[in-house]
Amino acid sequence: MSLIEKIAGLHDAKVFQNLHWVGSFEDYLQLVKESPKITRTAFQRVYDMVLSYGKEEYIDNKKTLVHYPFFDDLQHGRTDAIFGLDIPLMRLVNLFNSAAMRYGTEKRVLLLHGPVGSAKSTIVRLLKQGLEEYSKTPSGALYTLVWTNLEGEEDLPCPMHEEPLRLIPSEIRASAIKTMDLETDGDFSIPVEGELCPMCRFMFMKLLEKYDGHWEEVVKKHIQVKRIILSEQDRIGIGTFQPKDEKNQDSTELTGDLNYRKIAIYGSDSDPRAFNFDGEFNIANRGIIEFIEVLKLDVAFLYDLLSASQEHKIKPKKFPQTDIDEVIIGHTNEPEYKKLQSNDYMEALRDRTVKVDIPYITKLSEEIKIYQKDFSQDNVPGIHIAPHTLETAAMWAVLTRLEEPKKAQLTLLQKLKLYDGKLLTGFTEDSVKELRKESKREGMEGISPRYVQDKISNALVADHAQGCINPFVVMNELESGLKHHSLINSDEQRAQYKELLGVVRQEYEEIVKNEVQRAISADEEALENIFKNYIDNIKAYTQKEKVKNPYTGQYEEPDERLMRAIEEKIGISESGKDDFRREIMNFIAARVVEKKPPFKWDTNDRLRRALELKLFEDKKDTIRLTSLVTGVADQESQDKIDVVKARLKSQFGYCEVCATDVLNFVASIFARGDTEDEEK
Ligand SMILES: Nc1ncnc2c1ncn2[C@@H]1O[C@H](COP(=O)(O)OP(=O)(O)OP(=O)(O)O)[C@@H](O)[C@H]1O
Ligand SMILES: [Mg+2]
Ligand SMILES: [Zn+2]
Ligand SMILES: [Zn+2]
Repeated sequence: MSLIEKIAGLHDAKVFQNLHWVGSFEDYLQLVKESPKITRTAFQRVYDMVLSYGKEEYIDNKKTLVHYPFFDDLQHGRTDAIFGLDIPLMRLVNLFNSAAMRYGTEKRVLLLHGPVGSAKSTIVRLLKQGLEEYSKTPSGALYTLVWTNLEGEEDLPCPMHEEPLRLIPSEIRASAIKTMDLETDGDFSIPVEGELCPMCRFMFMKLLEKYDGHWEEVVKKHIQVKRIILSEQDRIGIGTFQPKDEKNQDSTELTGDLNYRKIAIYGSDSDPRAFNFDGEFNIANRGIIEFIEVLKLDVAFLYDLLSASQEHKIKPKKFPQTDIDEVIIGHTNEPEYKKLQSNDYMEALRDRTVKVDIPYITKLSEEIKIYQKDFSQDNVPGIHIAPHTLETAAMWAVLTRLEEPKKAQLTLLQKLKLYDGKLLTGFTEDSVKELRKESKREGMEGISPRYVQDKISNALVADHAQGCINPFVVMNELESGLKHHSLINSDEQRAQYKELLGVVRQEYEEIVKNEVQRAISADEEALENIFKNYIDNIKAYTQKEKVKNPYTGQYEEPDERLMRAIEEKIGISESGKDDFRREIMNFIAARVVEKKPPFKWDTNDRLRRALELKLFEDKKDTIRLTSLVTGVADQESQDKIDVVKARLKSQFGYCEVCATDVLNFVASIFARGDTEDEEK
């Protein structure tokens, strides 16, 4: 087999042929008969596209929400994804739905509105890319018409890739569709809107005249139907309009322009063949047009935009109004929107837009995903990102977005944790709901993910001495950037953001202290021993029996000091100890009855934590972490420290550099703690 043949084996000619389907008008009517949905409107197609990825219902704080996997990562190898915005995306998809049903939304400009860097552009980009992909699938297929057999002239494809059914004159279109006897496709009915574009209309009339009014001659002899694949690159069905400064803006960019070379050929500037119907509105027909920074649009364009949305019509220079069918979606950021709020211009637009607020993420675990996607270890070869680096940056970003809780006893950090689904004694799902409700503008202000992304990038390219960046490096970067942050307009706000970095630093201390403690006590055998010992003792205690001493074989009273030493670690009081011990024993008994796996040292979270802390306390002195601070570790201590370091590396994701750093850091915290104890 030749190499060409081998490679050819990988290339599926059938796929190509399907995507490039060409047929007669009769063939097309047959296709429509079999699957009427190929004639869907742009809104219907976009809505079906989103649903084609499925939908997942779930309960969040007692509310039923829908997640649309369409917006997830890695669909069709895309690089973008939207995290943590299920509620705004639900609103957006509902709008697509009502526009697909033609409840009126299809006559509006969809306006994504939010603070800078809240993923507005990303959402639109996903929709555009999604539509390109969808148009390649069998269920997303769509078709257009080409004028052919033109006596020596080149074939003329419809410049606006119109739906071929528009060739059926609108007076008879509805009854024509009825006589086609369509195979049913749910309760779908073919939309019968719109007239041919100026160029097609010109060709149609010309040929109709030639055949003395015989419509069938025109469509049989001169119409070819072909499948189209939507593509921004090829300017088919996907358009983007970006405002420039006023002098350079020109309505031809939206609705097309005269082609002077062709005027010479066709002899008249009113011949539609001498006009390029290639404005963004023209080429985006059947798909989506995106208006970047729509509020910066010059007033001269406003009317084009308004009639495009309201009437689905555009007005190319020198030609009659032309029907279009496309999703019009614009975005604007909050500062821009505010600036124009009292403006007349805005008034006209506001009336014809539906605004969808796209806020920042307020759920920590979702915010972290943004940075994990950008800065996954694969994306930054050669540099290690220490554990909790992205997490602490995300934590700060979310904190800057939260409104101070009205309840005095709740800190901002606790609120963040509640939003993240963590349990906090005294707070229920209802209180979380309440918190969300009292914070009206939450997520519309604060630090943008873009700022954080930039600072993490800075940290990565800066002099990261030993190939590892840690939370402190990034937090310092975040802090120093505040001085020049263009969107912070008061010193007060700057000071507040700084203060929040302090909150995050403190929380990071807690996190690593815990982690090092766990690494030190990650000695399963030792934990199991303490566990066994503890259980033997509380069993004897609750049953008023004695315990057999493993060394002497003697029966002794339960070891109260040992039990208390463990229980105190998790704040069990003297008066509460009986309950706790009984609870644990009942728990163990219940598992036997229910035939569940046996109760182990880590089965109960509270007990696990208590055991780890006890073991840590026992070991702390033998390991002498603080010797790291003084710099005089003897060989034995050093060996033990090395064991802990190895565990940090194998179980907690540290590298040599950050494991050493974090041990030193925690040692210094403990050293501080020890001296504090002495001072007391
Ligand atoms: N909810 C989110 N999910 C995933 N990525 C996000 C989210 N919010 C912001 N980002 C990321 O933040 C960056 C900025 O997003 P994008 O450019 O879409 O924002 P924007 O709202 O269009 O901003 P602007 O108002 O400045 O135009 C992107 O890298 C984007 O991936
Ligand atoms: Mg943007
Ligand atoms: Zn046309
Ligand atoms: Zn590291």
